[in-house]
Amino acid sequence: MIPPEKPKRRPRYRGKNPRAFHEKYKEHDPARYAADVEKVLAGGKTPAGMHRPIMVREILEVLALKPGETVVDATLGYGGHSRELLAAVQPGGRLLALDQDPIELPKTEERLRALGFPAESLIVRRMNYAGLHTLVAAEAPEGVDAVLADLGLSSMQIDDPARGFTFKTDAPLDMRMNPRRGLPAGELLARSSAEEIGRWLADFSDEPHAAVFAQAIKKAGALPGTRALAEVVRRAFPRGSRRVAEEDVETSVRRVFQAIRIAVNDEFGALETFLRHLPECLRPGARVAVLTFHSGEDRRVKQAFKQGARDGFYAAVSEEVTVATPEERRANPRSAPAKLRWAVRGP
Ligand SMILES: C[S@@+](CC[C@H](N)C(=O)[O-])C[C@H]1O[C@@H](n2cnc3c(N)ncnc32)[C@H](O)[C@@H]1O
Repeated sequence: MIPPEKPKRRPRYRGKNPRAFHEKYKEHDPARYAADVEKVLAGGKTPAGMHRPIMVREILEVLALKPGETVVDATLGYGGHSRELLAAVQPGGRLLALDQDPIELPKTEERLRALGFPAESLIVRRMNYAGLHTLVAAEAPEGVDAVLADLGLSSMQIDDPARGFTFKTDAPLDMRMNPRRGLPAGELLARSSAEEIGRWLADFSDEPHAAVFAQAIKKAGALPGTRALAEVVRRAFPRGSRRVAEEDVETSVRRVFQAIRIAVNDEFGALETFLRHLPECLRPGARVAVLTFHSGEDRRVKQAFKQGARDGFYAAVSEEVTVATPEERRANPRSAPAKLRWAVRGP
């Protein structure tokens, strides 16, 4: 006889409240601890293991979905946008949802399927959005009616120390959105020259002290984790005889992490390929919405939409960016840097 399964013990932690990501067992189980999760949300924080979708109302307005349409969510994440898109194309519509993250994707698919929409209305693929045109050719050869891309990282990826994106806690230098592909950050840094690293910092993050930090990173040799990398940048920050604001130093640390993450995941390569193939994925009259989080992303989207309009692919593109309302920025500080751009495919 199989002995009955013992109930799982909650993780042990020191003090009154859990502090580490893995200890926040209530936040990891929102279905069971809904009231606790609500409290975290009301405090303007994102519960561990969750992502709050940004500018949902504005995106739904831009995409103007109708029942029966086919819509793509190129960056599924936690599925916050996807559940709205899926609902908006019912009855009879379909959502093609993709993400390259093999850790979060199955959990999100399970959550979305539990909402009870017809099984055939949801197609989920673990893939890079650089290959969206191949998925559309296979699943919707006539093209899709709308596409959403919400770029960058999910809160689950940022907050989970095991993924190596954060320097708030110590973590291995990984930073891969898909840990099954490519080199972890530590290895990529070891294999790259100071010149290459300097180029990433300057080109991907507009870091003014790019060359100084790149030299310091190379000089430091093998780094044990994210905290060590952050420390190298702090120590190398050019001070001269001036007093330097702590905030400026931390901004540089953030920029260095952002640039390395972009290099590790070849984020701009993927974005450029996605934008180049986008027009061929769209039906006449189809709508596109892209949310960006820093100038390197926004510049590429703006240029691709403008070029697409000049080439006659797009009938209209956004002239200005839309940003989150002050209420949303207060309730969810991660929405503050977000910029929304849109385009409409010509007839
Ligand atoms: C900001 S989150 C999306 C959050 C989502 N909109 C939601 O409401 O939960 C970005 C997601 O895009 C994924 N991603 C980033 N670059 C990608 C790429 N090139 N191909 C596929 N997925 C990518 C990340 O793994 C992450 O899950």
